[in-house]
Amino acid sequence: MSTELTIRNATFKNPVLTASGTFGYGLECPAFVDVSQLGGVVTKSISRKPRDGNPPQRIAETSAGMLNSIGLANVGVDVFLAEKLPALRKAGATVVVNIAASSIEEYAYVLERCEEHEGIAGYEINVSCPNVKDGGLSFGTSCPAVAEITRDLRKRTEKLLAMKLTPNVTSIGEFARACEAEGADAVSCVNTFVGMDIFVDSRRPKIATITGGFSGPAILPMALAKVWEVRKAVNIPIIGIGGICTAEDALKFLIVGASLIQVGTALFVDPGVGPTIAEGIAAYMDRHGMKSLNELIGSLDTSLQPSLVAAGWE
Ligand SMILES: Cc1cc2nc3c(=O)[nH]c(=O)nc-3n(C[C@H](O)[C@H](O)[C@H](O)COP(=O)(O)O)c2cc1C
Repeated sequence: MSTELTIRNATFKNPVLTASGTFGYGLECPAFVDVSQLGGVVTKSISRKPRDGNPPQRIAETSAGMLNSIGLANVGVDVFLAEKLPALRKAGATVVVNIAASSIEEYAYVLERCEEHEGIAGYEINVSCPNVKDGGLSFGTSCPAVAEITRDLRKRTEKLLAMKLTPNVTSIGEFARACEAEGADAVSCVNTFVGMDIFVDSRRPKIATITGGFSGPAILPMALAKVWEVRKAVNIPIIGIGGICTAEDALKFLIVGASLIQVGTALFVDPGVGPTIAEGIAAYMDRHGMKSLNELIGSLDTSLQPSLVAAGWE
């Protein structure tokens, strides 16, 4: 039985990756997780220049998730390539570099700088950050802009190119179709939902930007529905993201049609949960006599069930 999966020329030993921005540069938690046991590490979004991000308060916990407005704070591509990438490679990680930018030229610049270096499995392009004024959602909610960015970057790399989509649009399937048409190898679904929370006594917002990105267990059913919509729209692989905390959560995304999954907010509770989820997926495949991930991916049974028990209700 194998949990390995290859998309374009990137091979992942299992389908569990860490989600961008929730695992630093993959090197902050060596006491909790061996990154070589993960399918891959998706880096914090990297931009051309270092960014401080938004002013605090940048994070607030909600009853079943979290709001963030980090604003793409990162070390910039030069420091990433000089310091973070070599350390990640040494630790045995399969590295997917997430790129954020405020112009097509900036996306291209960062990607081309990365192309000069060994040890990058592929790219995830963040066209969906809800927490920045320039770029971010202004790209991610414009289908022509997402198509143009995909087309431009496709010309610049032979490596895995995954476009990370926002769920904050009416029809995510249309965006996925545009990415597929312009040569993307995969789409990552989804980035955070726009959310908001306030204190009633002070009548002030909980985060400084007032609204932010909402993530964690609360978004799982919404993210799953987005993956389902995208599955019906395109044939390229989907990387499923949104509220995954356990192997059962991850299996839902794979069964609905994702080829890989990412774990984000759950890492704030347990930074070592990735390999545990990967083991749980392997145990499920074993139990169900599956030899490869392809037997699991997209195996959703949508036929009408004669009884609740047959449908899975205990
Ligand atoms: C604190 C925080 C920072 C994030 N930073 C980024 C980022 O830099 N780039 C990006 O593409 N997504 C970023 N995300 C979004 C996650 O990668 C992921 O798409 C989202 O949180 C949904 O997954 P989850 O519910 O498992 O957290 C961030 C999420 C959180 C919670």
